[in-house]
Amino acid sequence: MDKYESTVFRVNFPPFPPGFPYSRGVALLDQKSYGVLYDTSKVQKEDMFTGSFAPSKDFTGGYRMLAALDPSHEKHTILKSMLFELLKVNRTRTIFEFSKAFAETFDAVERQISQGKQVDFYSSTQKFVLDFLIRTIVHRDPAKPGHASLANDGPSLFQTWIGVQYGGIAQSGLPHIVEEFALHNFPLPFFLVKGMYGRIYKFFRTYATEAIAVASSKFGLDREEATHNLIFILGVNAWLGLIRLFPAIIYHVANGGSELQGRLRAEVRSSASSTRAGLTAEAIASMPLIRSTVLEVLRLSAPAKYQYARAKTDLIIESHDAAYMIKKGELLGGCLHFASRDPAVFDDPETFVADRFMGEKGKKLLPNLLWSNGYNHQPATAVNKQCGGKDLVEHISCLFLAELFTRYDSFQIAEPASIYSYPPRIKFTSMQKASSPSRI
Ligand code: HEM
Repeated sequence: MDKYESTVFRVNFPPFPPGFPYSRGVALLDQKSYGVLYDTSKVQKEDMFTGSFAPSKDFTGGYRMLAALDPSHEKHTILKSMLFELLKVNRTRTIFEFSKAFAETFDAVERQISQGKQVDFYSSTQKFVLDFLIRTIVHRDPAKPGHASLANDGPSLFQTWIGVQYGGIAQSGLPHIVEEFALHNFPLPFFLVKGMYGRIYKFFRTYATEAIAVASSKFGLDREEATHNLIFILGVNAWLGLIRLFPAIIYHVANGGSELQGRLRAEVRSSASSTRAGLTAEAIASMPLIRSTVLEVLRLSAPAKYQYARAKTDLIIESHDAAYMIKKGELLGGCLHFASRDPAVFDDPETFVADRFMGEKGKKLLPNLLWSNGYNHQPATAVNKQCGGKDLVEHISCLFLAELFTRYDSFQIAEPASIYSYPPRIKFTSMQKASSPSRI
């Protein structure tokens, strides 16, 4: 941006040449140009989930996944409707399963802190989120013994399947130069994780019978295709996003110190006790600071930072102060890290402001919140490419903070902390249990 004095310019996107020669694209780094990515009359989204890098379909049973389909595709509408239906029929389980997995996770965190250890929250989150998602949608504990059990390997099976599938662009934690030569020069073959994916597949085929029955009877989907899509939605779309989001919430709220933590605690406890039923959906909906804090985390630390599309025709893209000619077929790549910090839209854009999205002024900013691959005031539908879990993500993130400040008065993490490193460095050092728990 500094070099070209522009928020729209041509650049290589990962993965790079020589291994991946088709990396040239146009970066979109301001709020005005970003909108073209959502305009499917101008751009196509087939195989655009991770830009010029499209993993082999071997990783997903030979099927192209929902996230890689253009919304004009009939299969896109069917698969996304299937997801909406599964979220709807499991709505009543959501809070229960989330709170259960939360309690188990933080019981373990506390045990480790009491032994004088610093607790790595990123690895705790991996199990926490997987347990929550699978128990809610598959209705089975991943570790429950059985002939298709994932035992305690669930997070590492998913991590490895995803890491090899997206090796060309994955962050491995290796030094940058080693990573470039060893991983980012060629696609890794499926056979490396065939056995691991086989275990995940067997688990879903054996236990996700109700979900697959819905997919087949209500939407006419082939059971194989439904199974692989369910694995991808829960394992890639949902799990990968959420395991990045919860550490980011902890990071920003820890940095907010005792002032922010005190305000969040007060709001949670007064709302939960006023509904007389604890952390119900109704109570969560009456916590504006909690909600605004979650939205501000999603603004500053959106877990899915890049969105891509390809120009359907020659077109003109406008930024705030210029217009650019784009050729048919060009790769367009938006980076939320910059668009979400656009100084033309947000005051003090680099600063975490917990109440930014509160009140009338905050409501006016919702169209500028783009974490879900769409404008936040608009809903995800079966015919757009907005995140199918948008409402769920915001709801359970609020629930996460509400649970946290029901159980604890405050908490601290070790310095230096980072959510931009891989893996993120978020380690709890101490947690003060609630002095007057408000659960009724
Ligand atoms: C798509 C973000 C959680 C289901 C997307 C996209 C983004 C996104 C940016 C668009 C990708 C693209 O086409 O460029 C996130 C983040 C999450 C999250 C940051 C968590 C913090 C979830 C959850 C679910 C979900 C919990 C489901 C339970 C989907 C699906 C799509 C999608 C199915 C594809 C939608 C389509 O192709 O029309 N998500 N997501 N996501 N997300 Fe999420």
